[in-house]
Amino acid sequence: MNAYVKNQVEPVVRSNLDFKLDQIPRFWFNGDPFKTRMFDALSLTFPVGERYFIQSVRLFRDKIIDPELQHKVTDFIRQEAQHGIAHDKMNDEMKRQGMPVEQFINFLGKRFEELIQVRSPQYNIAITAASEHLTALMAETFYSKKETLQDVHPYVRALFAWHAIEEMEHRDVAFDVMKQVGEVPETTRKAALLITTCLMFGYTFYRADVMLKYDGFNRLQRAQMAVKGLPWFFGRHGKLTAMRSQFMDWFKADFHPSQHPVIRQYQVWIDTLAETNDPIAAGEAFWQAAL
Ligand SMILES: [Fe+2]
Ligand SMILES: [Fe+2]
Repeated sequence: MNAYVKNQVEPVVRSNLDFKLDQIPRFWFNGDPFKTRMFDALSLTFPVGERYFIQSVRLFRDKIIDPELQHKVTDFIRQEAQHGIAHDKMNDEMKRQGMPVEQFINFLGKRFEELIQVRSPQYNIAITAASEHLTALMAETFYSKKETLQDVHPYVRALFAWHAIEEMEHRDVAFDVMKQVGEVPETTRKAALLITTCLMFGYTFYRADVMLKYDGFNRLQRAQMAVKGLPWFFGRHGKLTAMRSQFMDWFKADFHPSQHPVIRQYQVWIDTLAETNDPIAAGEAFWQAAL
């Protein structure tokens, strides 16, 4: 078997990685405001979103008897906490650029708090597992081909590369919690992916549009950017559209995240970090090794 083809890898907690985000340009995706703000709009939700994922998994922690899963839950929590810290630094940059990050985060934080308070633990773990399905698929689609992020600033590409490989490492954790101790009805599990997908991408587009307004683009300019830019994500040959068959696998009764191979060049990131201790070099090698 090809050493680079693996179906599941174990979470490893890595902390204090420096991506030099204070040195990135405003429009770090090839000077393209729309693509930059779409990724920024997604990125800025990670600290508050990942806190919610942690809370959802914690609701079931006492019920887990499998020691291996207990261990993986601990590492999942620690990995997501580190992602929050790193993306908070990205948020600091966006704030420095005059973006209404605080406003977005406060709104989202309240919504997540309500979900935990009002909805059942079953609903929350299903939303979390579904979100993890989406993050693992995004990791794959954004890094499987070199040309996709070709024009992205290497520091940002490295930040997302690290996040991507760790999402691969823990993609089955919330899912296994849901399956083993969640007692989540199948209808809830399936609905959760549809709800999460609509909210995640709908609000990402909304926030990107607001940020572009703060960047000084008028309504017409923003509409033109959206018409031109959205197909890159959602068009017939869009980067997210490319994952539709893996996305749909969620709806199979016997689906498990490990049915999808881990991204082909996963080991390159691991080996380069071990050699260089530099997460930017690891991200660069990882991106370079894509097809
Ligand atoms: Fe994460
Ligand atoms: Fe995650």
